[in-house]
Amino acid sequence: MAYSDIYEAWKSDPEGFWMEAAKAIDWIKPPSFALDSTTAPLFCWFTDSQVNTCYNALDRHVENGRAEQTAIIYDSPITGTKKKISYRDLLAQTEQMAGALSTNGIDKGDRVIIYMPMIPETIVAMLACARIGAIHSVVFGGFAANELAVRIDDASPKAILSASCGIEPGRVIAYMPLIDAAIDLASHKPEFVVVHQREQLSAELREGRDFDWQTFQEGAEPATCVPVEGNHPAYILYTSGTTGAPKGVIRPTAGHLVALNWSMKNIYNVDPGDVFWAASDLGWVVGHSYICYGPLIHGNTSVLFEGKPVGTPDAGTFWRVISEYSVRSFFTAPTAFRAIKREDPDGKYKEKYDLSCLNMLYLAGERADPDTIHWAQNLLNVPVIDHWWQTETGWTIAGNPIGIEPLPVKIGSPSVAMPGYDIQILDEAGNLLPPNTLGAITVRLPLPPGTFPTLWNAEERFLKSYLSTFPGYYETGDAGLMDEDGYLYVMARTDDVINVAGHRLSTGAMEEVLADHPDVAECAVIGVSDMLKGQLPVGFLCLSKGVNRPHREIVGECVNMMRDTIGPVAAFKSATVIERLPKTRSGKILRATMAKIADGEAFKMPATIDDPVILDEIKIALQTLGYAKD
Ligand code: COA
Ligand code: AMP
Repeated sequence: MAYSDIYEAWKSDPEGFWMEAAKAIDWIKPPSFALDSTTAPLFCWFTDSQVNTCYNALDRHVENGRAEQTAIIYDSPITGTKKKISYRDLLAQTEQMAGALSTNGIDKGDRVIIYMPMIPETIVAMLACARIGAIHSVVFGGFAANELAVRIDDASPKAILSASCGIEPGRVIAYMPLIDAAIDLASHKPEFVVVHQREQLSAELREGRDFDWQTFQEGAEPATCVPVEGNHPAYILYTSGTTGAPKGVIRPTAGHLVALNWSMKNIYNVDPGDVFWAASDLGWVVGHSYICYGPLIHGNTSVLFEGKPVGTPDAGTFWRVISEYSVRSFFTAPTAFRAIKREDPDGKYKEKYDLSCLNMLYLAGERADPDTIHWAQNLLNVPVIDHWWQTETGWTIAGNPIGIEPLPVKIGSPSVAMPGYDIQILDEAGNLLPPNTLGAITVRLPLPPGTFPTLWNAEERFLKSYLSTFPGYYETGDAGLMDEDGYLYVMARTDDVINVAGHRLSTGAMEEVLADHPDVAECAVIGVSDMLKGQLPVGFLCLSKGVNRPHREIVGECVNMMRDTIGPVAAFKSATVIERLPKTRSGKILRATMAKIADGEAFKMPATIDDPVILDEIKIALQTLGYAKD
């Protein structure tokens, strides 16, 4: 069937479409209907079903002939480790950990924070929670103690599962000091912490609070799968919004299973048994959906890679992994390819490897720039498929449905709406815009299965952030246009979110950190274009009257504060002191205009600007930082 037939089939009978897709899931009690609109505009899917995620990711494959198939290939060039774990072994490890969690009082609905590096135990931790109906919240290792504390307070976990350390090129990051600091900062106190000791660093455990990973599990009865309702939260994943408080995106269990399973064949074109690799981190949504859940639910072999595209040990590491494990579909962020291109522009490292196994390269997480797409295509000689989605949706909104029908690629576009998504471009007043006209990218409600039904503990915020601007539509926060063939072009964010190396960060949150510096009276953070990371944050600091310390010192302190408060992942390394910020007459800081100046783009002088001369001062300040070139 053609994509257009399938899309139309979904449009004319969404219930029927998703009930059909639901047949691929093993239910404890199958759903009798798909969409639950009783609490509209909050929608749920498969609410009267009973199901277990871990059963679908592990047990059913073990029972149905995949027990000896490799579930996880752990390849860690940063530690020099390689390991294959079969479905049978992954199940054994998971049911043991699930049993230990149960014995220690973790029940269905309890929250568990997972603060762990890219090791198999992290997947065991996620699946163990799913097995007993506990709601996990994985926190990315690049976040500092304060960010962890914010998540502890919002999710109020009974336990934290962690490891002794994470490993970045050139440094070992001890996790326990970060966990100790986070627990000290948080008002909510988790009951216990379970720590996987890595050989690179041994953590000192606190008597009474901390348990060693192995001893914690000793003697525990392996746990069976706990049935949960279709809309039971599988997990909470925090993502950046416009303020310092991250948004807790809830993933509903049944929709998650149905949508991810559907996406593996129809979008990523892999069959059960094929090797699939998403080079991301389990702390991000890509890692949740396509390192852990999607491939396992679908019976694939998933690669868990602990390393970087360059420097671990070289720019050929991706090609080695693809050829060594016969990866069929590979997914990463464009920034990874830019990093490789910078080190190895002629693709010399690739020559050593046979990549004939690879069918397709998928890119997402940030705008895929045409240069990178062309370079990747020429190097790998496979189609490069851009696709667009968000933490909120958990799977593709717009993409190229390769497993249904490969559509012609239009470079610069992530292609077309996936079944389930009715994408509309709206103007500020909420009117539908004609093709090729820039506007807010929205999706007509309801969103499909697997997408977030609301935010954890924050229904008002959910309604205000996503549903209030355009009643009846989900506001994605991205701006763009759609051409006459239905191809979407994602151009920019409409809010304070910036995208640094595929990581979603809030400039609002960064401003809150800078504003805490005792000498800073006022500040702004903008995202400027960067050849490698897509965007980088740059800070502008207006100092309090009478402060006459060297600016370099203050900037250095601000950089350190950002690293200590948000974390190294913020990549906040440049800031400058200025006299005043450009504002409208009503006092709104002109961040978008500042960003245009930084990128050397043409801009329209805002009609309501308070004092246009300030823009010249901004330009000079940016030039001293190496931006705003004429
Ligand atoms: N734990 C602790 N620190 C971490 C971390 C983690 N899990 N992940 C990143 N960091 C640190 C880095 O070490 C770096 O610290 P530094 O300032 O001391 O150098 C900082 O956070 C910024 O990290 P990052 O933006 O990732 O930059 P990088 O220079 O380490 O690597 C790339 C750049 C492009 C190679 C890297 O971002 C990458 O591989 N991206 C792939 C895409 C990806 O994973 N996207 C996720 C969504 S799909
Ligand atoms: P995250 O929630 O971290 O996955 O980030 C989602 C945001 O990243 C989107 O709202 C976009 O701004 C951006 N993004 C993700 N994928 C793409 C893409 N293929 N093209 C353009 N922007 C993208």
